[in-house]
Amino acid sequence: MIIQTINLTKRYGELIALNNLHLNIEEGECFGYIGPNGAGKTTTIRILATLLRPTWGEARVCGHVVGYESRKIRPLIGYVPDFFGAYEDMVVQEYLEFFAAAYNITGKKRQQIVGDVLELTDLTYKRDGLVDSLSRGMKQRLSIARVLLHDPRVLLLDEPASGLDPRARIEIRELLKELHRMGKTIIISSHILPELADLCTSIGILERGEMIFQGSVTEAVRRARMGTVVHVATPDDQERARQVLAELPNVENAMLRNGFVVLSLQNETTDFSFIANAMIRNELRIHEIKQEEVNLETAFMRLTKGIVQ
Ligand SMILES: Nc1ncnc2c1ncn2[C@@H]1O[C@H](COP(=O)(O)OP(=O)(O)O)[C@@H](O)[C@H]1O
Ligand SMILES: [Mg+2]
Repeated sequence: MIIQTINLTKRYGELIALNNLHLNIEEGECFGYIGPNGAGKTTTIRILATLLRPTWGEARVCGHVVGYESRKIRPLIGYVPDFFGAYEDMVVQEYLEFFAAAYNITGKKRQQIVGDVLELTDLTYKRDGLVDSLSRGMKQRLSIARVLLHDPRVLLLDEPASGLDPRARIEIRELLKELHRMGKTIIISSHILPELADLCTSIGILERGEMIFQGSVTEAVRRARMGTVVHVATPDDQERARQVLAELPNVENAMLRNGFVVLSLQNETTDFSFIANAMIRNELRIHEIKQEEVNLETAFMRLTKGIVQ
């Protein structure tokens, strides 16, 4: 377990920002930390980054306890906060060299490493550009470049895609995929679930300081799905099709929507031959039978409303 929290609790005065949090993340995972604003994501990440002490409970990073062995943790992590400071009159290359120096990386090695991270984050062509003149997406990539200089094992990224346009989001996602392939353990927070779906190996959903779900993306969707919704298209009489299908066992509800007969099935199933059979028996032609995608946004909403669990 590269990250582990036990009963991790953080209070700001009366406010309980994190309540007995148990978080387990294995080495090499890309963990999506999801929750609405104010859920406690930043608080958790700042504790893991050794910038905040827990009120009680424990957080371990690479086996070291935050607050007691923070000095051992810092070289092993790269923390990208949810804000970017101002660096007037500093060009990209200088910015990175400045931070490399802070990590005691010197001489030829420094040049080499700065060159490598510029390449990796696709910023080589901006090396002589002023930091403050970069677009938001480039600044975000530069923040990531900065925390890669000391080759950390764990990356802690607090909402790295927020406020970015779609293209910049994709670029960040591709970069994170690359870092994941390189073997880094990544913790990335977001208040929107879908943008993490094809990136993360597991997710945790946080609500008001409590973890309400931890597992794979598929598992989250499965739990939220609750039965199956199927769309059936026919060029024949749709109302007749609806009536025929409504009579089938396992069909809880049948209605017409957007040119489809929409069936809610009681159980989870991927075998729709019973629907096709009923259609054929009643001489109704089939243009399409498809399962409704339960998208991650829906899954997230259902999970956070406490409908599940
Ligand atoms: N320094 C602080 N002092 C007081 N309350 C804080 C402080 N930082 C965060 N909070 C409160 O703690 C809760 C969790 O905040 P935060 O960890 O920033 O959530 P998130 O990152 O998920 O939006 C919120 O209610 C927030 O207002
Ligand atoms: Mg936050």
